[in-house]
Amino acid sequence: MSVLIKNGRIITASDDYIADIFIEGESISAIGKNLSMKADTEIDATGKLVFPGGIDPHVHLDMPFMGTFSSDSYETGTRAALYGGTTMVIDFVLQTQGKSLQHALTDWKSRSDNNCVGDYSFHMAVTDFNDETKKEIKHFIEQEGIVSFKTFMAYKGALMIDDRQMIGLMEEVKKCGGLINVHATNGDMIDYLVAKHRAEGKLSPLYHYLSQPEITEAEASERFVDMASYTGCPGYIVHLTCEGALNAVRNATKRNQKMFVETCIQYLVLDASLYEKDFEGAKWVMSPPLREKKDQATLWAGINQGLVQVVATDHCPFKWEQKLMGKNDFSKIPNGHPAIENRMELLYSEGVVKEKITLNKYVEVTSTNAAKIFGMYPRKGTLAPGSDADIVIFDPNEKHVLSAATHHMNVDYSGYEGREVTGKVKTVLLRGKVVVDDNKCLVEKGYGQFIKRRKVSQII
Ligand code: URP
Ligand code: ZN
Ligand code: ZN
Repeated sequence: MSVLIKNGRIITASDDYIADIFIEGESISAIGKNLSMKADTEIDATGKLVFPGGIDPHVHLDMPFMGTFSSDSYETGTRAALYGGTTMVIDFVLQTQGKSLQHALTDWKSRSDNNCVGDYSFHMAVTDFNDETKKEIKHFIEQEGIVSFKTFMAYKGALMIDDRQMIGLMEEVKKCGGLINVHATNGDMIDYLVAKHRAEGKLSPLYHYLSQPEITEAEASERFVDMASYTGCPGYIVHLTCEGALNAVRNATKRNQKMFVETCIQYLVLDASLYEKDFEGAKWVMSPPLREKKDQATLWAGINQGLVQVVATDHCPFKWEQKLMGKNDFSKIPNGHPAIENRMELLYSEGVVKEKITLNKYVEVTSTNAAKIFGMYPRKGTLAPGSDADIVIFDPNEKHVLSAATHHMNVDYSGYEGREVTGKVKTVLLRGKVVVDDNKCLVEKGYGQFIKRRKVSQII
């Protein structure tokens, strides 16, 4: 099968020009002006933006968490991602403490195999680093194509590792050519504040926010970058939200450390005033919580300074009845927020249209940098001959309103209900196939492939 996309405005992380793209099979075979090849399908992209399919490297699909499962399956989550212009996601396998990494991978594959509509990969979350786990790292990097290892500095008793384990894991991952991702918040401090608020009868969602002040994230980020500096292990801080934490990374960059930063769309466009809405605030109970306007300004600046390389979602949806598990106690509200479908359009509307970032930066933070950091570039993350034909055709002017009534995520509310955005995903191709067109998904579960990734020791 071949596809010719005519006259689109092609945007990559570095370029911006009008041309045609010719696709044969799953990959791009030529880009140029007035291409004359005959194709099975021709798409007129005049007046449209044409950019690489989004990569969201932080999602939690069908994940067991806080006594329930996140409500999007691999099918519904990756389909919603495609509707929103994200052609690939990276999800997290969580090791059960006391069991092997391989055991967890087998468990996760039982839910994901043959169920994805879009492409996907996994990070491996190490929650119990010991002599046995240590032996598995090399195998994951070299055989499984899973090169990034997630660590939690919070969620004690379930996911958190201590600094001794962190250092050991960093040394092994560095030796084998991988990368450590981190949820960097001080778990002990948070647990103390949660217990204090509960003891005082302060039980509304607002106290979720007040139990995780900025210092809990700044301190853990500082500690993480220092341990990474000591071991020489490349690091990636997930869902960074605030000025204090970003300043810790600023210091790391002065030491020329390989330290990458992800923020998420919600931290750029929503703020902590939403926790004042009584229990409705549960919609935005996530960790870390939403922050202040000054933190949003820091994050936008961090993107333009090159300190923040990725805008992801941390998509971890729970239906309203699941959120109600914490009706009388904020600490029982499942943590997470749905955004997998909204990220690309929200960032375009809030970032590019409002002139906070350029179009090239938009592509860099939604796709290219994730592909580079996580060992998939240039197969993914750009538009070039030889790359997978993962392509979004985007109307930069169409306005529409985000709503649970029209979204495709398996969750009965939207964190962005009623918000008007400018810019709409019109057509999406994944590995050369038109998978979304005119608000319809044209492929079934099973089309999405597991993407094995390369060692990341050569990262940007
Ligand atoms: O609230 C969140 N972020 N839920 C998902 C788990 C995590 O910490 O990323
Ligand atoms: Zn996290
Ligand atoms: Zn997460």
